[in-house]
Amino acid sequence: MDSENGGAAPGKLLGIVDEGKLFRHLFETSPNAIVLFDEKGIVRACNVWTEYMTGYPRAEIIGKVFLNLPFFTKEVMAQLALKYQELLSSRSGQLDRPVDVQVMRKNGSPRWVSLLGTTIQIDGRSMMQVIGVDIEARKRLELVLEEENRALKALDELRMQFVTDATHELKTPLTSVDGAIQLLDDNFSALDRDTINSLLKLVRRGSFRLKELIELLLDFSRIEAGHFSLKVAREDLSSVIKNAVRSVSFLAYQRRLRVTVGELPALQVDIDRTRIEQVVANLLTNAFKNTPPGGAIEVTMSFDRDVATVSVKDDGVGLTSNEISKLFTKFGKIDRTDVNAEINVTGSGLGLFISKEVIGKHGGRIWAESGGRMKGSTFSFTLPLGRGDEHALPI
Ligand SMILES: Nc1ncnc2c1ncn2[C@@H]1O[C@H](COP(=O)(O)OP(=O)(O)OP(=O)(O)O)[C@@H](O)[C@H]1O
Ligand SMILES: [Mg+2]
Repeated sequence: MDSENGGAAPGKLLGIVDEGKLFRHLFETSPNAIVLFDEKGIVRACNVWTEYMTGYPRAEIIGKVFLNLPFFTKEVMAQLALKYQELLSSRSGQLDRPVDVQVMRKNGSPRWVSLLGTTIQIDGRSMMQVIGVDIEARKRLELVLEEENRALKALDELRMQFVTDATHELKTPLTSVDGAIQLLDDNFSALDRDTINSLLKLVRRGSFRLKELIELLLDFSRIEAGHFSLKVAREDLSSVIKNAVRSVSFLAYQRRLRVTVGELPALQVDIDRTRIEQVVANLLTNAFKNTPPGGAIEVTMSFDRDVATVSVKDDGVGLTSNEISKLFTKFGKIDRTDVNAEINVTGSGLGLFISKEVIGKHGGRIWAESGGRMKGSTFSFTLPLGRGDEHALPI
């Protein structure tokens, strides 16, 4: 029966008399490039799709040596020559897997094509058939995925580094708290009042730092989980700045730095007071940590109709343009081993990342400027004043 006869000619099955016409049609309308070349490697036939895919007319393909076709680059030619040898020595007469290559179209644009070679017998002659499938879209997607994968790996490495750094940051104050408590516990009756006082100060400073670090870590995970929110109220920005300066001035004193605060006119703004204080305090402690003793830090505030701008300027180690690009990023702690100055490199590297989130949530902007290494830095942020709102005007 014909229906069971797999060997029956398709033309006959379909009731078509001219089988040659049928196969020519199938060959020409195939949505894949098909190229046939002989034992000498000379191309004997190719279909319309080959012209479409490469941009070369048939006249520039037929009669040429397949491996030297103009749309193959030197590297692709070398790759295909190897595959050709593999194919000739294979028992099945077919490659196990197609070869993905980038062909250069006549207009100079590259295109990814997957090539599969098979040896075929036609009229007792051994010919080679190469089918080319356009895989440009798939390759592009693969390249995007590869790039994303690389970025994820890099982020993962940063995350691992961050866990190591953060653990170290937590361990430092804990070690000093633990040491001081042990000394107090073991020798309390033998210690004089001054020693007890200085040990208690150590405990206090250490636990303050621990609390600060834990709050930073909690803020960070709130941001990551999308749960970071503000408690906004109308506040006087100048008093927020004054408070922030007061809260960290002990560090400036310890590091023998001079802090000057410019004119701070009262200015009502809608802000989360605690958060803005946290941002200013972080900019100040950063300036203190990165300015060698004897340096000067200046805090200023200015405003126009639309925004208030707060700046913290120091004359410390400064920032290179490469370092500026890393600031405000997740885990953006900067390696400062190249700096030969008396600076304090402790920190989780989260302060500016959180500051950016806080300022962004207020509708403002935060940025850094520096003339380069040892040229000082200026960190500034803006807060919108609410255009046309009479309450936003200075009181
Ligand atoms: N004024 C500055 N001058 C030079 N470098 C700075 C300055 N401010 C910040 N940096 C660099 O930017 C990095 C990131 O600052 P960020 O406030 O995010 O983290 P940190 O101060 O290291 O840690 P944390 O604020 O969490 O205690 C710092 O490690 C520091 O190297
Ligand atoms: Mg900081």
